[in-house]
Amino acid sequence: MLISPQRKKKLDCKNITWRLYLLFLFCGICFGEDLGPSECHREPVNRFDCAPEKALNKAECEARGCCYVDDSLGKEQPSCFYPVNYPSYRAVNPTSTENGYSSTLKRTTKTFMPDDIMTLQLDIAFETNDRLRFTIKDPIQKRYEVPIETLCVASKPTDMQYDVKIIEEPFGLIISRKKNGQILLDTTVAPLLFADQFIQMSTSLASNFIYGLGEHLTSINLDLNWTTLTFWNRDLIPRKDANLYGTHPFYVAMEEDGSSHGVFLLNSNAMDVILQPAPALSWRTTGGILDFYVFLGPEPKTVIKQYQDVVGYPFMPPYWGLGFHLCRWGYTSSTLTREAVKKMRDAKMPLDTQWNDIDYMDSYLDFTYDPERFGDMPEMVNEFHQAGMKYIAIVEPAIGLSSPHGNYQPYEDGLKRGVYVTNENGQPVMGKVWPGPTVFVDFTNPEAHEWWYESLKNFHDKVPFDGMWIDMNEPANNVHYVPVDDCPDDTIENPPYVPKVVGGTLRDTTICASSKQHLSSHYNLHNLYGFTEAIASHNALIKIRGKRPFVISRSTFASHGRYAGHWTGDVESTWEQMYYSIPAILLFNMYGVPLVGTDLCGFVGNVTEELCVRWSQVGAFYPFMRNHNTLDATAQEPYVWSKESQDAIRDAALKRYMLLPYLYTLFHKAHTSGDTVARALFVEFPSDRNTWTIDRQFLWGEALFITPALEEGQTEVKGYFPAGLWYDLVEGKKIESKGEWFTLPAPLSTINVHVRGGYIIPAQEPGMTTEESRKNSLWLLVALSASGCAKGEIYWDDGDSLDTYKKGDYSIVLFTAQDNTLLSEVKQIEPEAEKLKLDVVTVFGVAAAPSKVLVNGATSDNFEYFPKTKKLKIEKLSLPVGNKFEIKWA
Ligand code: NOJ
Repeated sequence: MLISPQRKKKLDCKNITWRLYLLFLFCGICFGEDLGPSECHREPVNRFDCAPEKALNKAECEARGCCYVDDSLGKEQPSCFYPVNYPSYRAVNPTSTENGYSSTLKRTTKTFMPDDIMTLQLDIAFETNDRLRFTIKDPIQKRYEVPIETLCVASKPTDMQYDVKIIEEPFGLIISRKKNGQILLDTTVAPLLFADQFIQMSTSLASNFIYGLGEHLTSINLDLNWTTLTFWNRDLIPRKDANLYGTHPFYVAMEEDGSSHGVFLLNSNAMDVILQPAPALSWRTTGGILDFYVFLGPEPKTVIKQYQDVVGYPFMPPYWGLGFHLCRWGYTSSTLTREAVKKMRDAKMPLDTQWNDIDYMDSYLDFTYDPERFGDMPEMVNEFHQAGMKYIAIVEPAIGLSSPHGNYQPYEDGLKRGVYVTNENGQPVMGKVWPGPTVFVDFTNPEAHEWWYESLKNFHDKVPFDGMWIDMNEPANNVHYVPVDDCPDDTIENPPYVPKVVGGTLRDTTICASSKQHLSSHYNLHNLYGFTEAIASHNALIKIRGKRPFVISRSTFASHGRYAGHWTGDVESTWEQMYYSIPAILLFNMYGVPLVGTDLCGFVGNVTEELCVRWSQVGAFYPFMRNHNTLDATAQEPYVWSKESQDAIRDAALKRYMLLPYLYTLFHKAHTSGDTVARALFVEFPSDRNTWTIDRQFLWGEALFITPALEEGQTEVKGYFPAGLWYDLVEGKKIESKGEWFTLPAPLSTINVHVRGGYIIPAQEPGMTTEESRKNSLWLLVALSASGCAKGEIYWDDGDSLDTYKKGDYSIVLFTAQDNTLLSEVKQIEPEAEKLKLDVVTVFGVAAAPSKVLVNGATSDNFEYFPKTKKLKIEKLSLPVGNKFEIKWA
């Protein structure tokens, strides 16, 4: 550490100026003019907003000691901004600790925000060689901290990749990459503010390429041109510049040399992040503490993994969860629900899981089904099970009351057990959601988890559902049953700084911020509502079914992926929203939530046939694939379209089913090592700058590359192919790229998918359900690199039991190709995989027609060579995957 006294002298002068300023201010003299040109000389891009909470005129701005220059010319740059030496904290005697540094931070001058905390405690911990954490908090008064489990530190780092410099006065922190001095974080660019309800810290950014900070409707790389990203979970049709369903205050930043790092602020209060073209970023949060993690990477992949080392790796989904899911709001009876399944079967569309929306409920009450329209719901679900399918029903966190619904036992039990969010009088907070008047479960209360489990268990005893869909859990409060004015009029409801939330107030479309929860106020916990419901649901499902839980949630928070997946909410059926689904899915993978998808064909509005086909094609490559539609929109299930469109949708869905062994293996890697499943190009190819903004194409893992058609009327698609060999999935036609754009045919009948040279993909003959396809023979797609090599692997287990990896009940088989030989190496084998037989091997990139093929030394005639595409197909192998094998072609 270097503790720099460099600014001290200057600051002492400034302090004098500042005292003078107060004196003048007291005398009612506008002092702003006294801020000399040098103090106020800042390039517009380097101005940090000194009027975050409201617009100020010149006099008001200068009265708070800031500079006012109105040259914005309609741009969003602030006209009122901090002068160079605006008073901030001073680091008093920073000292070394066992694993880092600590210091008291003192401020002597109050800011324009009420309740400044004048003395703070800074603690810097060198957690690993590639990760450091620093917290800034009130050393006297304990403040709210996010109650999520983060990883413990196991050992002392010995070879830290970072340097830390504490600037004493005004206080600042500079974190750089040891190897090349690249600055990753520099908070000296603007003053630190730490008041009870307003905390602001700014930093420079290492480049213009920043990714993350969801959930927002954005391209993959964020726009730094004065963008405000707001974090306050909310029910909203996704649109730009709006706070959406989830909160992930984590970003990955590229550095000019292709290295990358990440920053995570563990804070759950209502928050804004301001991005400006300096490039710089300001965090502005309304409570809690500053709890930052910095991850040194240096590859984006390792940054993402290092982040998940802190928030946890994702849960392992059941195999069936990766199949096709069908849903709509408007299957208003079991007859209609069954009909949908039958039509899917008749159309020969794969389908694993049928869903019901709120239609199934009796008066929209959780844990009930309508006795008339869904009277035979238990039988319906059993039938689905007998057909090898699964079933999921929606569940709401807003609980209807007994009145007007008669004696509604779950509500009564919950009331007795005190499981609801309460108001200042200790009464359950009332809202209005589907059943009319409702109360809201407080999932931070352990008793509520018990109650949730018991209520679900009672329902499951009747209707044996397999997974859970948890919706409206921001929490949404659609209709204000209690007029909004009924929230108390205090600083919790109306903080001095209100982030740029849609609706302008924290209470908009949700419950009062002043509501009380078991762990803290709703003000602090709002952004954790869906996340805590996901934990309760995940745990309840394990107890009820004794199998792997499958929970899909609309609202999320950092660490969500440990417990559940996510769908991206009420997207409109438009071409634009289909495109945005790709960055959304890639970003959620970066947040450690790999099980994510967008409603195929869109949710709101009527979809056109062409759009639905294209959306089904790209959706076949979402890690979570579900077609879902709103109540009043025209039907969009695969079977409603023309034969040509149905063929195209079926083809895409079957491709997915064929590739499920690969997808499942990727989920295993995500679960065990924090890899991404759907992967942005820049994550895989960070040294190729062209990839840094690509979000119309994406990868599955390292080896499968998807180039969807995203525009209306398109018959060709342009795609960027990073340097290397890429083989068309079906034909094996080769693209040899030096890092170039290619134009590919894109007829409506198909989607472009390529296998990366150098990789082997495990696949399987597709069935109509995953239960069926798991019994089919295995295929291997071997895509040779320019030097004739390839590698790959398969992870396999029974697909549904808990903790198979931990218990050792799994198989891993590695495959390598080299010198015209494909070899397997059995790392671990268990009975499930012994049933698997390898039947077909397709090798892409075989230069010349082989004259013979040897399988474990024996000649085989079951092969065909396709000279045009240089593809070799070897069939009828019947090789048990549990036994080592060797296949040679010569
Ligand atoms: C809102 C959800 O986002 C949507 O998917 C669902 O269909 C409706 N609620 C009705 O439950």
